[in-house]
Amino acid sequence: MSLTAERHRIPLSDGNSIPLLGLGTYADPQKTPKGSCLESVKIAIDTGYRHIDGAFVYYNEHEVGQAIREKIAEGRIKREDIFYCGKLWNTCHPPELVRPTLEKTLKILQLDYVDLYIIELPMAFKPGDAIYPTDENGKMIYHETDLCATWEVECHPYFTQPKLLEFCRQHDIVIVGYSPLGTSRDETWVNVSSPPLLKDPVLNAIGKKYNKTSAQVALRFNIQRGVVVIPKSFNPQRIRENFQIFDFSLTEKEMKEIEALNKNVRYVELLMWRDHPEYPFSDEY
Ligand code: A2P
Repeated sequence: MSLTAERHRIPLSDGNSIPLLGLGTYADPQKTPKGSCLESVKIAIDTGYRHIDGAFVYYNEHEVGQAIREKIAEGRIKREDIFYCGKLWNTCHPPELVRPTLEKTLKILQLDYVDLYIIELPMAFKPGDAIYPTDENGKMIYHETDLCATWEVECHPYFTQPKLLEFCRQHDIVIVGYSPLGTSRDETWVNVSSPPLLKDPVLNAIGKKYNKTSAQVALRFNIQRGVVVIPKSFNPQRIRENFQIFDFSLTEKEMKEIEALNKNVRYVELLMWRDHPEYPFSDEY
């Protein structure tokens, strides 16, 4: 498959298709100025991104919806050009809550549909108004589900997921790799004992050869092997940088060199919820 800025979608078995590169939109709501998500999504759409990854729990989904609607109103895109992925939060896992929760998301977005709706995390919390429900001791209140978790996975050169990738290839399942740049390294939720991905000498040396950054090499590595990536950036220059990955390709040897960087260590371990009965990361994938 030759990938270009205009054509980098993978067909899905239902007749739809998903762009291999999307914009991630999670940013700490306490530290992120209001409106930066709106501006970033608009810049991304102008840059050529057609896949936006968002969620109710990011507290900025209304800005994502507004950006998409403004770009439609401007005539730059049609709704069907955009692939939007939304997420069902942990307090809404009971089957009877799924549809009303999705409807709430559509209201927030002010869009008629989402293209993909996934389970944010396969660990249910007690349903109710509190997004992080806790008891009187401050302990998270979990909720029982019979979840057969179908879930997106962390994926980048330090966590290449060879087994899962092979399984998904055999079954025609597309993987969306989150944290493709190795996360923001926010110590409140990221395991920072693994070194920063973007400082990796191999990624940087390969980047030098093509006049690309380590981030561009990390993203190209995944899209070249058919893994969808959703790098988050609210910085205009980096939003554009992350899209400039269709004008070079990695050799087979370089792909192998990057595969060999795998450390089998997750950045997103969510250890604070490791006592949840459905905690997913104790299993091998
Ligand atoms: P920013 O929004 O300021 O650009 P991931 O997608 O793996 O979760 O990584 C997101 C983090 O990486 C964010 O902190 C984002 O910050 C940063 N980032 C995004 N693009 C780049 C890039 N091209 N080079 C360096 N850092 C980047």
